[in-house]
Amino acid sequence: MSSTVYLNGEFVPYEKALVPVEERAFLFADGIYEVVRVYGGRPFDLEPHMARLVRSARELRLPEPDCEGLTRVTRELIERNQIQEGTVYYQITRGFHGPRAHAFPTGNGAPTVLVLTHPLAPEKLAEHERQLREGVAAITVPEQRWARCDIKSVSLLPNVLAKQQAVERGAYEALFVRDGFVIEGSSSNVFAVLDGEIVTYPACNYILNGITRQRVIRTARELGYTVREEGIPLAALSRCQELFLTATVTEVMAVTRVDGQAIGDGSVGPVVRALQQAFREAVQAL
Ligand SMILES: Cc1ncc(COP(=O)(O)O)c(C=O)c1O
Repeated sequence: MSSTVYLNGEFVPYEKALVPVEERAFLFADGIYEVVRVYGGRPFDLEPHMARLVRSARELRLPEPDCEGLTRVTRELIERNQIQEGTVYYQITRGFHGPRAHAFPTGNGAPTVLVLTHPLAPEKLAEHERQLREGVAAITVPEQRWARCDIKSVSLLPNVLAKQQAVERGAYEALFVRDGFVIEGSSSNVFAVLDGEIVTYPACNYILNGITRQRVIRTARELGYTVREEGIPLAALSRCQELFLTATVTEVMAVTRVDGQAIGDGSVGPVVRALQQAFREAVQAL
């Protein structure tokens, strides 16, 4: 079934949703995005995702997104495309402006606003459930990104290259290492359990402050865990009890091996299990 896409104020068939070749996202990656998970036909944590989209837009001096309008579009697309389990993708760019020039266009150029949905196939969901139960492998890679990773920009080449390296080495995720600290994954935040406490890199310009990260920090504190927002030393991985990732589609995922070395006893630990359970309950309460 062909899906419907929202592009610049109109609902159009996927095949007809086209942008010009001098679109600035195509030429300069001059744009921002968000991904929202849909559970049982309902968007999860839509509000904080919209708030982050507004923040990203401000940081890049893009026009302020119309969150109320996008929320209506979200519901309409979920309905039209009959999404039960899936994702909604939002992208806002500085739009089409030829001829190509680096500086912002002068005048009233309109941004490009795109919203599309993807269903999650049952076999993908089953594989994901297995990974949640058994944990996944990760590799470490040197940080090669810019110093504004807090902006959810579509400029993702180092993330793409890092993820590809992970895939080629049979791993689920690549963890960026900056100045001897594990800071985040190519598309996820990373947490360690060290001496019984949960440690994750502080929200700053070097990481994306994940919506799932923020939820998991809140939940962990409610469950009575101590959460310290500090760097995870690469050298401490060999003695951490648990390591895990958080992200919108990844949810709360144990990392049981890094660069071929087992984390803790190599199985999914009790902190991850407790946080996965709490996350599941939040989804069920939607
Ligand atoms: C670099 C990076 N860090 C963290 C995350 C997790 O963010 P969220 O929980 O909002 O999906 C993502 C998600 O795509 C990401 O790309």
